[in-house]
Amino acid sequence: MKVGFIGAGRMGQAMARRLIEAKHDLGVFNRTPDKIKGLVDAGAKAMALIAEAARHGDAVFTMLADDAALDDVAGQKGGLLESLPQGGVHICSGTHGIGVIRRLKAAHTARGQILVAAPMLGRPEMVASGQAGMVVAGPAEALARCAPLFAAIARRSFEAGAEPEAATAIKIANNFVLGCAIEAMGEGFSLVRKYGVVPQVFNDVMTDGLFACAAYKAYGKIIVEETYDRVGQMATLGLKDANLALAAGEAVGVPLPSGNVWRDRLVGAVAHGDGGKDWAVMALEQARAAAGEKDVSLGGGASVAQQYLAAGLLDELVVSVVPILLGGGARLFENVGDVKLEQVESVEAPGVEQRISVDAIQSISILGTGAGSVLNQGITRFFREYPYSRIGLRCVLTNDQFSVNGTIHDGGKEYLVRRGFLRGVDVVNQNPENVISFRDMEERIKRISRRPQAPSAGSQLN
Ligand SMILES: NC(=O)c1ccc[n+]([C@@H]2O[C@H](COP(=O)([O-])OP(=O)(O)OC[C@H]3O[C@@H](n4cnc5c(N)ncnc54)[C@H](OP(=O)(O)O)[C@@H]3O)[C@@H](O)[C@H]2O)c1
Repeated sequence: MKVGFIGAGRMGQAMARRLIEAKHDLGVFNRTPDKIKGLVDAGAKAMALIAEAARHGDAVFTMLADDAALDDVAGQKGGLLESLPQGGVHICSGTHGIGVIRRLKAAHTARGQILVAAPMLGRPEMVASGQAGMVVAGPAEALARCAPLFAAIARRSFEAGAEPEAATAIKIANNFVLGCAIEAMGEGFSLVRKYGVVPQVFNDVMTDGLFACAAYKAYGKIIVEETYDRVGQMATLGLKDANLALAAGEAVGVPLPSGNVWRDRLVGAVAHGDGGKDWAVMALEQARAAAGEKDVSLGGGASVAQQYLAAGLLDELVVSVVPILLGGGARLFENVGDVKLEQVESVEAPGVEQRISVDAIQSISILGTGAGSVLNQGITRFFREYPYSRIGLRCVLTNDQFSVNGTIHDGGKEYLVRRGFLRGVDVVNQNPENVISFRDMEERIKRISRRPQAPSAGSQLN
């Protein structure tokens, strides 16, 4: 079937891909054209204008952020209302308010066009894996005509009747229940955490028993792993949904007291700078509330820490260092602005997280990525320049001290680096017990790397 598609955001991308995979002839428009490149590579046709997408086939999807975007795309000069042919179907899949859907239905009907509301149930990854659902409502003939499109995108489409707003009401109510569930999960997790429970255990109990379903599993996992920066739906869009729910309730005199909690949590999240994160950050808001004046801790890798550092939200870092000297990865203090840090504590015990100075971590990350000014491209270049046959280091970081031992033993010597057949520099550890500071070690390696290559030169790191 020929079909247009407007809005290649997170959800739009995943939906459009499924339509392409099902061999529909797809014409895609996005306000930011760069985002459709991948879809065009996958077989879609690029549409430069909303009007082109509207006229591409018998139907056109919109998958837009909010009511303002929908009003804009539909109402602007050359927009959907002006461009969709008579009898054409607008399949509106974003989560929108009852009011805008009513207005849009009237405007389309006045032009002999048809509105089908088809909001999505599920996050982008669920759409991609064919697990998402869809609620569809509109004239029966239009629903039948579009059924192959719905089948391509969703595991199941739930027909909600002839009035598009019925699907909208269901979607809003569904998100209301989901938002409250995430809020309840956040509260549950913060309670057990206060009693020292490992969050994963509570998650196992919750999702194996009463709440063994997709929503609890997906959001419980996000809360346990604190992967709020892996965004399915942004907190700002979650807040939009909470406002839609409260407005829908107020319009018909239905109180939604839990909805106010849901909304306020998201207002707090946005105020704390988390609007661009996944809307599960509600759980983080609850953690903040539960902490009172106490600490809120957030787990994650370098990328999470960078974002929070950049936002100025971290007071203290606890860094667990895995002493892998070589390799890539994100550098902790890159693009985080001018952060002033001081060492707080070093903990020395096996299996205990080491709290070490920021200087040492920065040095490790510079060495680890083979970059930085200190070693002029770092240890990676150093090793590239010398054709060693064997490199054997055992590095131990204790507090701020770094000890390096060679693991190559030959002729009573301990080598860190054993040269190749003809060329290279042996690096002998003359003092295996030596413990040096990170800065000291950098200095020593710098000295070695500056030495001219000599066929049989010996060097030492001690
Ligand atoms: N993400 C989810 O898990 C999920 C699940 C179910 C339903 N939904 C709903 O689906 C809708 C889309 O969500 P999403 O996560 O895909 O959002 P998103 O990634 O932020 O994408 C929003 C899309 O809307 C477009 N847009 C925004 N304002 C526009 C304007 N004034 N004119 C033209 N285009 C405009 C954006 O274009 P640009 O690329 O140019 O910004 C982008 O294509 C929302 O209503 C959301 O509530 C989301």
